[in-house]
Amino acid sequence: MKALPIAPAHIAWDEDGTPRAPAFGDVYHPRSGAQAQARAVFLAGNGLPRRWAGRGDFTIAETGFGLGHNLLATWAAWRDDPARPARLHFVSIDAHPPRAQDLARAHRDQPHQALAELLLRAWPAPVCGLHRLDFEAGALRLLLAFGDVQELLPQLVFAADAFYLDGFAPERNPRMWDARVLKALGRRAAPGATAATWSVARSVRDGLSGAGFVCERVEAAGDKRQTLRAQHMPRDRRRAASPAPDLADAADAPRRAIVVGAALAGACSAAALAALGFEVTVLERRVPQPGDNGSRLAGIFHATVHAEDSLHARVLRAGALHSTRLLAGLDPKRVPNDGSGLLRVERELDLAAMQARLDRLGLPKDFVQALDPLAASARAGVAITLPAWFYPSGGWVAPVALVMQRLSRPGVHCHYGSDVHALRREGRQWLALDEAGRVLARAPDVVLANAEQANALLASIGAPPFPLARERGQVSGFDGPVPLRCALAGDGYALPLPGGGLLCGATRQQDDDEPQLRDAEHDANFARLQRLCGLQAPADPAARHGRVGWRVYTSDRLPLAGPLPALQTAPGTRLDQARLLPREGGVHLACAFGSRGLTLAPLLAELVAARIAGTPLPLEQSLVDAVDPGRFVVRAARAAERDAALARAAADASLATAVRSRCA
Ligand SMILES: Cc1cc2nc3c(=O)[nH]c(=O)nc-3n(C[C@H](O)[C@H](O)[C@H](O)COP(=O)(O)OP(=O)(O)OC[C@H]3O[C@@H](n4cnc5c(N)ncnc54)[C@H](O)[C@@H]3O)c2cc1C
Ligand SMILES: C[S@@+](CC[C@H](N)C(=O)[O-])C[C@H]1O[C@@H](n2cnc3c(N)ncnc32)[C@H](O)[C@@H]1O
Repeated sequence: MKALPIAPAHIAWDEDGTPRAPAFGDVYHPRSGAQAQARAVFLAGNGLPRRWAGRGDFTIAETGFGLGHNLLATWAAWRDDPARPARLHFVSIDAHPPRAQDLARAHRDQPHQALAELLLRAWPAPVCGLHRLDFEAGALRLLLAFGDVQELLPQLVFAADAFYLDGFAPERNPRMWDARVLKALGRRAAPGATAATWSVARSVRDGLSGAGFVCERVEAAGDKRQTLRAQHMPRDRRRAASPAPDLADAADAPRRAIVVGAALAGACSAAALAALGFEVTVLERRVPQPGDNGSRLAGIFHATVHAEDSLHARVLRAGALHSTRLLAGLDPKRVPNDGSGLLRVERELDLAAMQARLDRLGLPKDFVQALDPLAASARAGVAITLPAWFYPSGGWVAPVALVMQRLSRPGVHCHYGSDVHALRREGRQWLALDEAGRVLARAPDVVLANAEQANALLASIGAPPFPLARERGQVSGFDGPVPLRCALAGDGYALPLPGGGLLCGATRQQDDDEPQLRDAEHDANFARLQRLCGLQAPADPAARHGRVGWRVYTSDRLPLAGPLPALQTAPGTRLDQARLLPREGGVHLACAFGSRGLTLAPLLAELVAARIAGTPLPLEQSLVDAVDPGRFVVRAARAAERDAALARAAADASLATAVRSRCA
């Protein structure tokens, strides 16, 4: 979904403390209390906690997050249940999320204060799209979808075991209960899914029936005389009289995966998989330090604002928000970082044009602000002569420390000095082989997080290469006190190093394999630094330091994150959309992050892991497609179709000419 303004909820508080939405003419919950309703209608109505007992992953989807009472009641029930699922995924959509102060007020004198406090601390800026907030060390995952249900639901990829239908009353808010919305929920029902709501309105029952649910009215206590429970039972299953599968059996058997490469992408992929219950073998050819690429000391991460809110801008926005949340949860002593904002100097637009763009895109100021040079200079501590974008969800982080932190997660087993030369399939397993053909590791899933070297491993299984290019780059730095206070970008970038000093960069050369530092590139980096913020590097060349690395790009400058398309497709297979392509089971890519690894790798590693595990995807479908390796197959198929159409047109034209000349 392109950027759309998110209007936070306008909440009126009645004298008895009940929150009300004047725009909808309805209350957020019955006067008898939100928690009682959550337990009686939504949890009990979905057979919870009984139905989730012993499960590895259990997914609940809610329409209408509101003030999060249902989440908190469910979270508390999950905490209290010794048979709780290993991971609880809670997907919730809301077009008008509450402001933080309303959220705080709603839970002030309520049970579950401690949980509400955690939610409040993680509460995101009102930016449209998806925000994944992890609690309980990643065992409880809230995927907040900010946007209108009719626009956003088609973009969500999940299979829910239980639905909480909690929009305002259908007669006051028909948009939320529209038959198409209920059908879209039905398409996202896992086998055996149930749904519950307090509304027994005819339209809701009809809509749910049309979406494959069998509804039952249940006598209720409290404000409502009856509530609704429903079981997803699509017609084909009803005809076959096959009962819903028993989901209580799917205990969390340890799953295994291999990750090739232990730098940023590999470490993030391994951690994301381990958090989903996988035992992960990471194979890294280097010794002993991974992540040592380019900006080893620190690198920047941030979103970007694009006039048309391009796919790139949307992926970067999601990535920057995710990286900021990830870093906020890490110990800065262990992973030095500053996620408190980045300034990006604007060289083309003036302040008024920048503000107009923000207004048009509806991006809130806790996500991005347009600052005049004075305000930008005050924030940065150095002289900035142009206006600048300020991204609160941005900053810098020490990549090696981040990599080491990600690799230290239980379930991740890293083997250095393990150079993978080939992959081989053996039944349902993939084998990673060394140069001598010895098996380094075996698992049903393998993630190629080894940058451009992914193509060499794909060649070993007969897969065509992806269009990857490698670009050399050098960063430069010096020690000593600097006035720069935050990460700064524009033509080049600069950041204050932890413990003093500064890092700036970076140069770019195509097809250049030279690993040595070059003085001329230090000069170029320091000249750019001076243009950016007036700071000068020390004259003494001995005071300078730097690093060389390589960025890897695809031809469309978006990463490769997702499963490998099938090597062979049956005739007639649809190749026109990445999401429909058949896949080469078990091989996945997480590479080609270009110069934006710190912004993109943490989120896209979560995407890759979620696609492997079958858990809710943290990105909208259109963005999943944008980074899907399958997009190159789709483009090739379209180009082949165009060529064939042109050839047919040319053949028709020559036939017509031949016929004309015969007739003449
Ligand atoms: C000069 C410079 C400055 C940069 N500054 C920033 C910045 O400020 N912010 C930012 O976000 N990004 C920055 N980048 C980009 C960032 O470094 C990359 O996006 C990031 O390193 C990509 O990480 P990766 O894990 O995909 O790839 P890599 O870091 O290239 O790691 C791939 C890993 O795979 C291993 N490997 C390869 N083949 C095999 C094999 N066959 N078997 C086993 N292991 C294998 C390699 O040894 C390596 O460890 C910069 C890059 C450069 C060059
Ligand atoms: C009754 S409240 C939800 C209460 C919530 N489940 C809780 O536990 O606190 C209904 C919510 O639906 C949201 N909503 C209304 N219309 C919507 C729409 N078209 N798309 C998405 N959300 C909508 C409102 O913003 C509101 O927060």
